[in-house]
Amino acid sequence: MRRRVCRRLRNRFQQLGLEDFASYTIYLLDHPDEWSVVDACCRITISRFYRDAQVFEQLCQALPSLIQLRQERRNSSLRCWCAGCASGEEVYTLKLIEHFRLSSKKLFLPLHILGTDVDEYLLSRARRGCYSKGTLKELPKPWIAQAFDVNQQYCLKSAFREGIQFEQQDIRKQMPDGLFHLILCRNLAFTYFEPILQQEVLRGILHHLVPEGILLIGKKESLPIDGNSQVIKLSSLGIYQKRTERI
Ligand SMILES: C[S@@+](CC[C@H](N)C(=O)[O-])C[C@H]1O[C@@H](n2cnc3c(N)ncnc32)[C@H](O)[C@@H]1O
Repeated sequence: MRRRVCRRLRNRFQQLGLEDFASYTIYLLDHPDEWSVVDACCRITISRFYRDAQVFEQLCQALPSLIQLRQERRNSSLRCWCAGCASGEEVYTLKLIEHFRLSSKKLFLPLHILGTDVDEYLLSRARRGCYSKGTLKELPKPWIAQAFDVNQQYCLKSAFREGIQFEQQDIRKQMPDGLFHLILCRNLAFTYFEPILQQEVLRGILHHLVPEGILLIGKKESLPIDGNSQVIKLSSLGIYQKRTERI
């Protein structure tokens, strides 16, 4: 990753006719707008459907009790937010889980899924919903056969695009309105942000998560100590549940 970011930055300063990183640093002092380019160069956009399959297997086990709780509270749907959704892979993964794992059960609530990302180009790809084969390698094969039309790419059938919304948002500055029952923030804030920013983002996320709602972070990520007291760890793979009350 580091090498990839360095290569992008090198290409950028060469484009500007600069010789090395030191000259680029000086250029940045005189051109503060250039920081947005640096920001974009530092973004890692890799994602996959059903990324870290075991995590989603465990999520599938946790969802029925969440659905039961929401039914008891007379909610008509489960509001889900995928922060840093890249090209929609996680968003559609939830949609596939809804169809293949949840909808046949007695306990069921439709999912309303919001995907946000800072990168408008990735969001346009997400809205298109077409992917290369490699992106699907962790998905159960029968799901691929049923959910995608295959041409040059694998494109999601229309039934798997319903109840989904994408919005451009920078999680450092903005979060969506309302409360969510399930929030995914994987391989973004808790890997790439400074500790203080991680704490701010976690505070914001927990503010938007209902009590007993589920938070998924990356499998290898951990939460900043600050917010830990507000959640219960359900799994070592990054699945948490918000406590009913602050302790
Ligand atoms: C490594 S990808 C992870 C994608 C997905 N969550 C996953 O785990 O497969 C990180 C994503 O976060 C997005 N991102 C980076 N900075 C962001 C920010 N400040 N606000 C919102 N999204 C951001 C990137 O554009 C990218 O799509």
